[in-house]
Amino acid sequence: MKTKVVIIGAGPSGLLLGQLLHKKGIDNIILERVSPDYVLGRIRAGILEQGFAKLLREAGAGERMDEEGEIHGGVEIAINGERSRLDFKKLTNGKSVIVYGQTELTRDLMEARDRSNQISYYEASNVKPHNVVGERPYVSFEHQGQKHKIQCDYIAGCDGFHGVSRKTIPEECKTEYDRVYPGGWLGVLSETPPVNPELVYIRHERGFALCSMRSQTRSRYYIQVGEDEAVENWSDGKFWQELKRRLPDDLAAKLVTGPSIEKSIAPMRSFVVEPMQYGKLFLLGDAAHIVPPTGAKGLNTAAGDVYTLYSILDQVYNEGNEDIISRYSEICLRRVWAGERFSWWMSNLLHKFEGVSDFEEKVHSSELEYYLATELGQKIIAEQYVGLAYDEIE
Ligand code: APR
Ligand code: PHB
Repeated sequence: MKTKVVIIGAGPSGLLLGQLLHKKGIDNIILERVSPDYVLGRIRAGILEQGFAKLLREAGAGERMDEEGEIHGGVEIAINGERSRLDFKKLTNGKSVIVYGQTELTRDLMEARDRSNQISYYEASNVKPHNVVGERPYVSFEHQGQKHKIQCDYIAGCDGFHGVSRKTIPEECKTEYDRVYPGGWLGVLSETPPVNPELVYIRHERGFALCSMRSQTRSRYYIQVGEDEAVENWSDGKFWQELKRRLPDDLAAKLVTGPSIEKSIAPMRSFVVEPMQYGKLFLLGDAAHIVPPTGAKGLNTAAGDVYTLYSILDQVYNEGNEDIISRYSEICLRRVWAGERFSWWMSNLLHKFEGVSDFEEKVHSSELEYYLATELGQKIIAEQYVGLAYDEIE
């Protein structure tokens, strides 16, 4: 087999890249380790920056997001019971975010791919990139008991944090920056109306909490739990009780509870690998960087990588400009570190972590209050939350 770009991984990064390349006439093949249902079973954040929404439309998969996604013009932050609203429209010249679940947009991208003539192999095992620094890269894999080999020009590693792509880069050619936070997010999805029409991020002495949603009938709530906490220790009743204790009084009084549809614990980690490119292999999304979920930057940072690689490959194939290839990592990393910094900052200021002294807790609380009390401070949070612009690729 032969194609221009082999994409490893059919998460949001791989699927979005595949469709955008296809729209520019650049053939690609996607290799995914698990089944489509397994991919769709992962529950993750659902806050889309405008840049992401634009890419999804460009990929021909934005229709349902535009019909069913909710536009949010603001978000709230509560410190020890006191709520402040960040009015995005006012603070960021009319910008907003879209609330649309990652499961839904992954499904939309899968359907768009089915409508195109591009090939995907699900349940592909032993996927392995070869010759990535040579002239003739190829990818080997097994599918339904048969061995295959795909010759290609470039390989896009969109295979998440545990994938094979990053591991292909020799240790001496990469540097990894890593920070694990002492805690996780216990999340519950339930068929109940959200307690507030907009998201509420909560700093509380018992630990962080977040009120989010998928729609006005489906809620997503999180509470910060300890590092080694097991989901089995949390009955629905215990979860709702703890959430209520952390909510500002007026919200606690309004909270509608119900059975959980999904309950899981997400770890909190910051991670970046540099460079994000090795010969003809490019890393995108979680394969190259992870953020803690505070601020919902995971998917949106991945979208920046997809935009960069797709714009570069468009110039390579459609304008004959090959020089730009070597700039992929440098262009991506600027925006990646901005997302890392924002997620790290939000996480530190909103959580209560073991090992942080009472003095530091007081300073965090004061810092947040300072930002929320001034329009300048609010602007700084709001412009990062709605998303920084993508770099022009030229
Ligand atoms: N071979 C083929 N596919 C693989 C392999 C492998 N060796 N290893 C992993 N995969 C697949 C996974 O099964 C998964 O479907 O790669 C895909 C990676 O998808 P994600 O982990 O969702 O990563 P990405 O697409 O970069 O996600 C973008 O959205 O919600 C966020 O946390 C997510 O921040 C991330 C962003
Ligand atoms: C979510 O709705 O799952 C969500 C929203 C905002 C975040 C993280 C997760 O910062």
